[in-house]
Amino acid sequence: MSNFSKIVLITLLVFCSLLCTVNARRDRRLSRRSKRAIEWGPDIVGPYCATRRDGCCPGRIDSCSVPILGTLCYCDEFCDRTRSDCCPDFYSFCRNQQTTPAPIKTPCIYNSRPYAFNTTVKNNCNLCTCAVSSTSSTGFDWRCETNVCLIRDKIINGVNDRNLGWQASNYSKFWGMTLNDGIRYRLGTYKPDGLVLSMNPIEVQHNGRLPANFDSRQKWPGFVHGVRDQGNCASSWAFSTAALASDRLSIESGGLARDDLSPQNLLSCNHYGQNGCKGGYLDRAWWYMRKRGIAVDDCYPYSSGNSGKRGTCRIRRSLGANCPSGVGRVQRLFEATPPYRISMSERDIMAEIEMNGPVQATFRVKDDFYMYKSGVYRYANIQPDAVPPEQDKYSYHSVRIIGWGLDRGPAGNLKYWLCANSWGTDWGESGYFRIERGSNECEIESFVLGVWGKVEGDEELRRTLEESREQRGREMFAANNPGK
Ligand SMILES: *[C@@H]1O[C@H](CO)[C@@H](O)[C@H](O)[C@H]1NC(C)=O
Ligand SMILES: *[C@@H]1O[C@H](CO)[C@@H](O)[C@H](O)[C@H]1NC(C)=O
Repeated sequence: MSNFSKIVLITLLVFCSLLCTVNARRDRRLSRRSKRAIEWGPDIVGPYCATRRDGCCPGRIDSCSVPILGTLCYCDEFCDRTRSDCCPDFYSFCRNQQTTPAPIKTPCIYNSRPYAFNTTVKNNCNLCTCAVSSTSSTGFDWRCETNVCLIRDKIINGVNDRNLGWQASNYSKFWGMTLNDGIRYRLGTYKPDGLVLSMNPIEVQHNGRLPANFDSRQKWPGFVHGVRDQGNCASSWAFSTAALASDRLSIESGGLARDDLSPQNLLSCNHYGQNGCKGGYLDRAWWYMRKRGIAVDDCYPYSSGNSGKRGTCRIRRSLGANCPSGVGRVQRLFEATPPYRISMSERDIMAEIEMNGPVQATFRVKDDFYMYKSGVYRYANIQPDAVPPEQDKYSYHSVRIIGWGLDRGPAGNLKYWLCANSWGTDWGESGYFRIERGSNECEIESFVLGVWGKVEGDEELRRTLEESREQRGREMFAANNPGK
């Protein structure tokens, strides 16, 4: 082979390998630059191509691009092929064409209203952002968070479409919250630990026949305290404890002490082992009632519902101390005996309520309970969302059971407990709810407590409480020893 042919061959080889590399690089780029057909409206004013130092480019050059709305638009000839990914000013600037402005195109629509790129809307508990999308025909779509919401249409409709014996509804105060927010801010009683569970239940004296329906408010008019609102603070431990102590004191004293006792006093001052607006234990709340006592609500009004914080303890624990309300002084401190546990037997719980008044119950709140409106509640299990195990302890709540009954509705005869919640009177049946009785629904019968009241600073009241207790003792004795 002559030298000349050698040179030609080598040149050809070099040329060919160069060509192949270029082709391969182009193939790689081709797969990276997947064209999105995006039509920019005139609301996306430039300049774009006009800002490039090298201006427009011939052929295909992927680096001939400008950032726009979180993506890229192109100023090369290739941008015009098949689907356009050209910059808005490509035709006017690179091709010198006059463009007639297209009608304004709005990237995203929500509730038939247009939204611009990168704006946000709140869809219940999820924030949605109008973002670039390769699958939507406009090139944009909403990108939303994926939280499980506290209020869900599917559950409301699911419950109401079935004949479950209860109805569900939307609550504007829960709208926009996540299920985790509900657990974190609306409950607040920790699952009783082993120590409490090992407490032996007392023996309840059955005093004859129990009625089919019973409501403490009718047996003790004016002595059973109403429904309050804990707000966005997981303080049901303080609310159910203060309310039960109030009820029991009023009933035992025959109305001599009718005040609402202060949940704020417990919430702010019962620190030991408690977590304020992040939840608390009932045994520790009762320990505080027994050892320290609390003031009435007028003296120490509730304020944590809005702040979501327990606040510092603002009351001195002594008679004559100034009230945090700024009005008056502490006249009496209300205390309690240690609580006693009532067995899981339906009849024991009924007999206890009928004889001594409301009881405190702790139960597991499931996702549909927040939406309860009326009827006899039972977990509907429509769209179960697995609660992460670490949340399990926190999904307990405490309330008062104030009575029971039998509901004869289209879903059949349903036995229920009548309970007072602490989510305000605009929730449920004017703040109350009914839950299936006798089947330990959501563990409502597992941890039922009763208590006796005590008082400091009022000799007459103290004597009344003592006499009342003696009298009750005699009645129980007589009931259990007929003929003596
Ligand atoms: C979208 O908005 C956020 C804040 O509102 C801003 O930080 C971000 O840079 C914007 N993104 C684009 C691509 O404009
Ligand atoms: C629920 O109530 C909120 C606030 O009142 C409202 O914005 C929302 O559209 C309601 N949702 C449903 C499903 O009715």
